[in-house]
Amino acid sequence: MEEFKPKTTLLLILLPLLLSSTLHPISSLSPSPSPATQPSLPSPSSSPSPSSTLDPKQLTALQSINFPTGRDPCLQPSPHNATLCDSSKPFRHLISLRLSNCSADLLLSSTALNSLSTLQSLSFLNCPIPPFRLPSDLSSNLRSFSCVSSLRRLTGVWLSHLYNLTELTVSDVPISASGPSIILSNMNKVTSFTISGANLTGFLPRKWHPKLTHIDFSHNKLKGRVPISVTQLPNLKFLNLSSNQLLGQIPDTFGDLISLQNLSLSSNLMSGPIPDSIASIPSLAHLDLSSNQFNGSVPNFLSEMKDLKYLNLEGNNFQGMIPFNGSTIKRFAVFKVGGNSNLCYNHSTVSSMLKLGIAPCDKDGFPVQPPPDKSSSSGSEDANSDSGDGSSDEKPKENHRHGPNKVVLGVAIGLSSIVFLIIFLVLLAKWCG
Ligand SMILES: *[C@@H]1O[C@H](CO)[C@@H](O)[C@H](O)[C@H]1NC(C)=O
Ligand SMILES: *[C@@H]1O[C@H](CO)[C@@H](O)[C@H](O)[C@H]1NC(C)=O
Ligand SMILES: *[C@@H]1O[C@H](CO)[C@@H](O)[C@H](O)[C@H]1NC(C)=O
Ligand SMILES: *[C@@H]1O[C@H](CO)[C@@H](O)[C@H](O)[C@H]1NC(C)=O
Ligand SMILES: *[C@@H]1O[C@H](CO)[C@@H](O)[C@H](O)[C@H]1NC(C)=O
Ligand SMILES: *[C@@H]1O[C@H](CO)[C@@H](O)[C@H](O)[C@H]1NC(C)=O
Ligand SMILES: *[C@@H]1O[C@H](CO)[C@@H](O)[C@H](O)[C@H]1NC(C)=O
Ligand SMILES: *[C@@H]1O[C@H](CO)[C@@H](O)[C@H](O)[C@H]1NC(C)=O
Ligand SMILES: *[C@@H]1O[C@H](CO)[C@@H](O)[C@H](O)[C@H]1NC(C)=O
Repeated sequence: MEEFKPKTTLLLILLPLLLSSTLHPISSLSPSPSPATQPSLPSPSSSPSPSSTLDPKQLTALQSINFPTGRDPCLQPSPHNATLCDSSKPFRHLISLRLSNCSADLLLSSTALNSLSTLQSLSFLNCPIPPFRLPSDLSSNLRSFSCVSSLRRLTGVWLSHLYNLTELTVSDVPISASGPSIILSNMNKVTSFTISGANLTGFLPRKWHPKLTHIDFSHNKLKGRVPISVTQLPNLKFLNLSSNQLLGQIPDTFGDLISLQNLSLSSNLMSGPIPDSIASIPSLAHLDLSSNQFNGSVPNFLSEMKDLKYLNLEGNNFQGMIPFNGSTIKRFAVFKVGGNSNLCYNHSTVSSMLKLGIAPCDKDGFPVQPPPDKSSSSGSEDANSDSGDGSSDEKPKENHRHGPNKVVLGVAIGLSSIVFLIIFLVLLAKWCG
């Protein structure tokens, strides 16, 4: 018993230190303090009157569509940013309204709509109410209109009445129209145009408004070629034409899009090479050409574009050696080249660990045939991982690299503190008993 004494004192000093270092992260996981204080309605001292500052007609209109008005809709910030008012006197007027999660039988009466014609921004999110007739005052006032999974079904003619818009978003709502032109041709001020998941048919417009910065026609049924006119938009930053039935080549003039940052042409029927002019787009960050029939070699300049962070060339007919080494590939947030059976990588500059979903090249720059396995010359312990599927990207791997270490460390600390605790209890029992 006597020989335990010095160790016991040492333990008694160490234990609180250990326990505090292991328990601290646990205590920080517990719910933040003051869970009992209910976030009651804000009652700012500036507006002691409970009555609304909103125009009574508009208040009635909101009540008629079951919009909660217990709290002044002009108070900012409004919940979910659903309302925004101007500052006119004696009554304020709504300039922005967002309706979310409506019941399907909600009636948006023409009286209500007429009194809401001061709106400049109107959005519907998950509001499967029937489409309504737009009062002309409202349609000319609106600058921004958004309809996501709402209004059941729209027509191109209905949308074309919103000629004063700068921003249009229609997503996951079917649109019947002869094509995008009927919607776009009257909107002389539009800068952001999104019609996505609308089963829109027809061809891309030949004429575009030069102020456009954002075009998204993804997930529709558009046919034909990508017109050269779309490459004549000096302010265009964002172009998404993915998941349509577009054909033909990428126009050589694509490099004229000097503001372009994000481009997706994925999941179409396009073919031909990546044009050299893409090299002159200074801030291209996102390039998705996946699931088409593009061919030719992957150009060298792609490895030199400083802002490019996302590159997806999966599922095409590209051929030859990719112009990237391992360190360049790791710079990308997403890098996908799989599903190109004639594409390969230089095994002396790219590790097979990257699992690109393509084969290493032979000395002539062709993929090693048949698919690489243990017989390949690089013969390291995991040569068989070369044939892994192409869908793996960087992110999960990085987690893989760092994840386990933290877990192991945590378990080790936890276990050792339990061991110490047991020793401590045993000693304590001996001491007391
Ligand atoms: C409300 O709008 C502001 C400014 O546009 C934005 O920063 C904020 O995230 C929005 N809040 C919600 C809940 O949408
Ligand atoms: C609408 O419903 C979704 C989930 O069903 C919810 O996340 C969202 O906060 C709701 N929005 C509003 C404004 O109530
Ligand atoms: C269209 O919007 C502009 C401001 O962008 C406004 O001056 C004009 O009056 C609007 N047109 C109509 C017919 O309301
Ligand atoms: C588009 O059409 C397909 C069938 O062709 C249908 O399954 C899908 O729901 C439609 N999309 C919309 C937004 O209506
Ligand atoms: C393009 O649209 C598709 C479908 O709407 C989406 O999944 C994809 O992330 C978009 N691409 C870009 C570059 O925004
Ligand atoms: C553009 O691409 C970048 C890089 O992939 C991404 O972070 C960003 O969200 C994209 N922007 C839009 C509007 O989709
Ligand atoms: C790419 O495919 C087209 C046919 O779609 C063919 O004419 C052309 O020669 C191919 N280019 C290369 C470099 O293989
Ligand atoms: C990888 O390629 C880049 C650009 O192509 C080059 O600057 C860099 O030196 C190369 N790194 C190695 C390790 O070869
Ligand atoms: C692969 O890269 C090495 C080192 O840069 C180079 O010497 C070799 O020629 C390349 N292999 C092929 C087939 O081009």
